[in-house]
Amino acid sequence: MTAFTRWIGVILLVAAGGAFAAETGLRLEPAPGRRLDNESLQRGARNFVNYCLTCHSAQYMRYNRLTDLGLTEQQINDNLMFATDKIGSTMTVAMGNADAAAWFGAPPPDLSVEARVRGADWLYSYLNAFYRDDKAPSGWNNLVFPNVAMPHVLWSVQGVNKLVETEYEDREKAEAAAIAVKSLAKVERAGDGKYVVKTLAQESPGSLSAVEYEAFVADLVNFLGYMAEPARNQRINFGIGALIFLGILFAFAYALKRNYWKDIH
Ligand code: HEC
Repeated sequence: MTAFTRWIGVILLVAAGGAFAAETGLRLEPAPGRRLDNESLQRGARNFVNYCLTCHSAQYMRYNRLTDLGLTEQQINDNLMFATDKIGSTMTVAMGNADAAAWFGAPPPDLSVEARVRGADWLYSYLNAFYRDDKAPSGWNNLVFPNVAMPHVLWSVQGVNKLVETEYEDREKAEAAAIAVKSLAKVERAGDGKYVVKTLAQESPGSLSAVEYEAFVADLVNFLGYMAEPARNQRINFGIGALIFLGILFAFAYALKRNYWKDIH
């Protein structure tokens, strides 16, 4: 191993340790970001209106803005608009906040800018982190958001997970085990100086395989990220265009310079 790769290793370890500590023992799964992938964004929009918009609004998002994702107004109207027939409306829900709070114990927050509040990795992990919990009022609990009032609305798609707890003598062993899991894992202090690692295991399958469900959630989180900052995609595309333009300009400027100087050298 060269000194260089060793240093990179040290830096990565320190960064990983920092991330671990900052999340109070919770290791988030990184969301596979595909910001400019319109097909993924379209699937994410479909998942969002079908599974989330029943409870959560997105009041800063207008349906007709979805033409950004390469959809026509007709497609939006036919496939994504269940709550309204006006293409210029925002994504609101019929459920009142007071009703929702009474039904679930907490109102479902507006999700327009949720991706900026929580970050993509948090959302991706959260949607992968539901497990069956008979003690919870909804019958569900979540490793990322303990005692969340939201039921696992995607259970028929993902299947049902159960919580697995393994006890370790000390914190180092528990953290090493949590890293070895390579998916969602949470380290918590147990009684008498011991630590538990909490992970999830599938109890019964859903309509999608584990890999398909991860892709489903990745598309959904991708869409939530787009929704939180729709203009960002235009900025990125503009930036790429500007760099290509500068590249071409450079080639011409260089050719011109060679031409001017060729007699002088
Ligand atoms: C049956 C109603 C319902 C549906 C459907 C639903 N949620 Fe929720 N959701 C809730 C409730 C209630 C809360 C508030 C939980 C709390 O504060 O304990 C919540 C909270 C959340 C939060 C955490 C908000 C925060 O930062 O505190 C996120 C993120 C979220 N939902 C995403 C989604 C997504 C994505 C979908 C679609 C797959 C979805 N929800 C579908 C009811 C719902």
